[in-house]
Amino acid sequence: STLGASAAERGGRYFGAAVAAGKLGDSTYVNILNREFNSVTAENEMKWDATEPSRNSFTYTNANRIVNHAIGRGMKIRGHALLWHSQMPGWAQSLSGSTLRSAMNNHVTQVATYFRGKIHSWDVVNEAFADGTSGARRDSILQRTGNDWIEAAFRAARAADPGAKLCYNDYNTDGINAKSTAIYTMVRDFRSRGVPIDCVGFQSHLGTSLSGDYQANLQRFADLGVDVQITELDIAQGSGQANIYASVTRACLAVSRCTGITVWGIRDSDSWRVGANPLLFDASGNKKAAYTATLDAL
Ligand code: XIL
Repeated sequence: STLGASAAERGGRYFGAAVAAGKLGDSTYVNILNREFNSVTAENEMKWDATEPSRNSFTYTNANRIVNHAIGRGMKIRGHALLWHSQMPGWAQSLSGSTLRSAMNNHVTQVATYFRGKIHSWDVVNEAFADGTSGARRDSILQRTGNDWIEAAFRAARAADPGAKLCYNDYNTDGINAKSTAIYTMVRDFRSRGVPIDCVGFQSHLGTSLSGDYQANLQRFADLGVDVQITELDIAQGSGQANIYASVTRACLAVSRCTGITVWGIRDSDSWRVGANPLLFDASGNKKAAYTATLDAL
């Protein structure tokens, strides 16, 4: 079997990969993508700097390379990411206050409207919480427009594409800790006040160990009435890599609202974590032990 087919047999889940448009001409890469995965995330091509390089002028050429590849093969598409403090275009970085808020709302509306009907789940807001024990929002120019910027973004995204699941996505949320609890509290508040949020993404950029409460953390979010998704999984190479891939996969399967897993690249040589060899295929495209462990866990 394959990762995608096995995940589909497990309650209609998906197994996806982050894809770079510039690699769609690499036959080894594309053969693995088409064989193993039934969902894609654009690794960079839907980010703010890529889609709106100058104010209110939108460009979707590279995003569409990925979208068209996916649609032609019946793959789901995760939209990533409408708003993030990183990879913002220079023009937006120079704004503040109500001007930035207007530009932000326009960006969300325009991009979500453009892709309406094609996106399974949108990462509406990415990485808005601080690391460490504060439980605070991350300081950013978006945050400085007012604490309600996140809910404003979710409302704009819902209006633009009512059919897409709207997710909040973050990292270092792999167990029950101050950061994940702050996000949990925000999601609970959004649900109680009717702010449209449907899912929480757990990036899961992991080292050589896994929090013992990884599954319990997914479950507490699911219990709020949102889906959970593993959105950017990669795990540092080490003696435990295969086992941790299997544990993450089993954790998702054990949570009925965990609807899919995405790995952040295909081959180790495609990874943003240079030298970590954190993916399921080696640089030549061969299946690693981590691949077999993942497939066996599905
Ligand atoms: C990374 C990409 O993989 C790199 O190519 C790019 O240079 C930087 O961004 N969290 C996220 C992703 O949400 O968008 C990031 O992707 C990895 C961390």
